[in-house]
Amino acid sequence: MNFFLETLRAIGLTVYFTLESFVLLFIPVRKKNVTGEIVLITGAGSGIGRLMALKFARLGATLVLWDINVEGNKETARLARKNGAVRVHNYSCDCSKRQEVYQVADQVKKEVGDVSILINNAGIVTGKKFLDSPDAMIQKSMEVNTMAHFWTVKAFLPAMVASNHGHVVTIASAAGLVGVTGLADYCASKFAAVGFAESLGLEIVALRKTGIKSTIVCPFFINTGMFDGCQTKWPRLLPILDADYAAERIVSGILRNQVYVYMPRSVAILVALKSLIPTKVGLVLGDYIGYFHFMETFTGRGKKIEDNKSQ
Ligand SMILES: NC(=O)c1ccc[n+]([C@@H]2O[C@H](COP(=O)([O-])OP(=O)(O)OC[C@H]3O[C@@H](n4cnc5c(N)ncnc54)[C@H](O)[C@@H]3O)[C@@H](O)[C@H]2O)c1
Repeated sequence: MNFFLETLRAIGLTVYFTLESFVLLFIPVRKKNVTGEIVLITGAGSGIGRLMALKFARLGATLVLWDINVEGNKETARLARKNGAVRVHNYSCDCSKRQEVYQVADQVKKEVGDVSILINNAGIVTGKKFLDSPDAMIQKSMEVNTMAHFWTVKAFLPAMVASNHGHVVTIASAAGLVGVTGLADYCASKFAAVGFAESLGLEIVALRKTGIKSTIVCPFFINTGMFDGCQTKWPRLLPILDADYAAERIVSGILRNQVYVYMPRSVAILVALKSLIPTKVGLVLGDYIGYFHFMETFTGRGKKIEDNKSQ
């Protein structure tokens, strides 16, 4: 193809797909049916993982629940059955351990079958300024929030490729798109998770495996307990999200094969602005939205546990 024809084709397709996405703003995309799909959720023992499991239970999916927290995971399984799930399988798996991921994945393939929707959700946070962050926590954050995704994808993507059917979901964070004071290691791990998921999605497109979808989820704070104590300066612009609302938006995004789920939508504006405005303007606006102070009041779950102990 010559330069003229290729340029014309690129312009034509750009106009077509821009118009298409504009029209789709007004016509809701049909949700896919997940009855009988095997949905694996890592970090299913609490928070968003548990809430997503309950929503997939109501949709008739077969659930495979992984967590390091055995009791929390059992409770999710019990609630999932109560919510209509017929097939629920819970496994103890430390996703930060490569060999354990491969071993439990083999067990899942034998006992349940090939996973068709993989949701990499398990996550941890240190919540300290970088120089105060213990080395072990920095390393663990990378292992749980990023590297675990490599091992689960290696374990489950081949079957999706073979059948040209599947979905890889990455629960990242708005902190995987913009840096945040007090979250250096967490941001590094979430940026890496976003980079991995984007690249993987492109590899799948290049393979022409149109039946395999990718969804990357980037939420601001959610009231699950993980970021307890954190505050937002302008709740209307950047609200702390309700956990059930967040889980509903994520599941809806998966069912609609949405590639990016930004929550709230203002996150998308922040990301676009970051690349467009001068750095000093960025600092002024960052200060205006309280960017440098989000983590100052962070306690995480640790504070609640300490409070309960002292009562
Ligand atoms: N809560 C928020 O404000 C928020 C915002 C943006 C993104 N996220 C992301 O959403 C995901 C879910 O967060 P959440 O708020 O539900 O937190 P959560 O702490 O309630 O749930 C995380 C789960 O992951 C499990 N887990 C931790 N380490 C593990 C390991 N090594 N192997 C297996 N399981 C492990 C935990 O036991 C827990 O059940 C995380 O990836 C988090 O980074 C959360």
